[in-house]
Amino acid sequence: MKIAILGGTGDIGEGFALNWAARHQIRIGSRKSEKAEIAAEQYREALSDHELKGGIQGFDNRTAAEGADVIILTVPYTHVSGVIDTVRPVLKDQIIVSPVVPMIKNEYFEYNPPKQGSAAEEILEMLPHGMSVVAAYHTIASGRLCSLDPAFKCDVLICGDDRRSKDAIIALTDEVECLRPLDAGPLAAAKMIESLTPLLLNLAMLNHLKDPGIKVL
Ligand SMILES: NC(=O)c1ccc[n+]([C@@H]2O[C@H](COP(=O)([O-])OP(=O)(O)OC[C@H]3O[C@@H](n4cnc5c(N)ncnc54)[C@H](OP(=O)(O)O)[C@@H]3O)[C@@H](O)[C@H]2O)c1
Repeated sequence: MKIAILGGTGDIGEGFALNWAARHQIRIGSRKSEKAEIAAEQYREALSDHELKGGIQGFDNRTAAEGADVIILTVPYTHVSGVIDTVRPVLKDQIIVSPVVPMIKNEYFEYNPPKQGSAAEEILEMLPHGMSVVAAYHTIASGRLCSLDPAFKCDVLICGDDRRSKDAIIALTDEVECLRPLDAGPLAAAKMIESLTPLLLNLAMLNHLKDPGIKVL
């Protein structure tokens, strides 16, 4: 598959690129194509440090999204609408994946959802009619994903309304040795999944945990 990772120059974007590059064409997107090209080169080097190879290229966000099968929105919540505006002209039938978590921090991290109920449902409203959103990966810490450590086992809670799109993301997740995909139901469940991230960050902060994740026993 061609997987576009918009804002893929950031923390979690790198983790997705490293884990999928061996089997898929990874298209790192950025507001600046030069920044994406530099990131892509660094990711290829990181792969070769692990004696792995993969196709990772850098583009501006719009070029990365054009012709992709899957688009992952790895940008902070406040910038998602701007990025969708940039790529909207090339959106057609790509599967849109949201790991986006709207949250604020005062003394603790708090979930701060939009009026639609979740970031994923708000994103759905921004897309051309007929497109669908799969919400996933909110509870996967970038440090763990980038480590490529197969000993790290974590569950990925995945929700969405379009069966075919959700199954495609479940299958992609299953390819990553350290991840177990779990179907969490319709997109309306996104609010429950997104709200776990600030909880995990508070647990990390208060208990000195590094990169905590979720495992359902
Ligand atoms: N980090 C994690 O462990 C983690 C875990 C689960 C979910 N998430 C979610 O994944 C998303 C990305 O997280 P992250 O930690 O990877 O974020 P990040 O590193 O802070 O930022 C990702 C990218 O967003 C782009 N960006 C920054 N400001 C922008 C703006 N004004 N307009 C458009 N793009 C902008 C940048 O790319 P360019 O400068 O190249 O355009 C940046 O590299 C967030 O929604 C977060 O909630 C993160």
